[in-house]
Amino acid sequence: MGFMTQITLALTKGRILKETLPLLEAAGIVPSEDIATSRKLVFATNNPGLRLLILRGSDVPTYVQFGAADIGVAGKDGLLEHQGDGYYEPLDLGIARCKLMTAVPVGAQVQAGRLRVATKYVNVARQFYAAQGRQADLIKLYGAMEIAPILGLAHEIVDIVDTGNTLRANGLEPREEIADISSRVIVNKAAMKTKYTEIQAIVDALEEAVASAL
Ligand code: PRP
Repeated sequence: MGFMTQITLALTKGRILKETLPLLEAAGIVPSEDIATSRKLVFATNNPGLRLLILRGSDVPTYVQFGAADIGVAGKDGLLEHQGDGYYEPLDLGIARCKLMTAVPVGAQVQAGRLRVATKYVNVARQFYAAQGRQADLIKLYGAMEIAPILGLAHEIVDIVDTGNTLRANGLEPREEIADISSRVIVNKAAMKTKYTEIQAIVDALEEAVASAL
């Protein structure tokens, strides 16, 4: 299929990308070179009107919100944290499923006083603890949250849990579930109007690919 207008689709690199590419292929979208072995950040596809961006997950909502990308694929965790508007979320791809959870050192008692929480999801965590009426000081980290409790930086963490291996390997256990996570398709609100036909064709094709992958 060719498009009358240029569409830019922003993808999240890493684990999500690996699970996104087969769905794209099933939807008829094939990158013109191997993304895995390239250092490029922009890729043409078999559709001259469609190009792909490879971004960090936390940047995908930003690109889509401001219309630098028309469509994006991003983890729900990043969308919850981004808290932006300016985009719709029309489709759950059902890939890269995991849970956003609190975790504490194995056997830890509930912290009586003021809680220190290390996370890269400070907005989500702030709302979670506030909704429970618990006072929490949030410490922003960019990775390796799991070592923060052992080193005394925080009492607990808020992070993604998939197999639970990372928690176990660092002496932690999951406590409370905050949200079910999977990858979502987001669409810039203005582009949804101005490029409706092209965008809807992509969303529909992805929806079919998801349905037949079940
Ligand atoms: C995520 C998360 C945990 C790990 C959980 O990191 O931050 O560290 O996966 O998975 P598990 O329960 O199966 O051990 P990821 O590997 O996605 O890298 P990141 O730190 O860049 O998010």
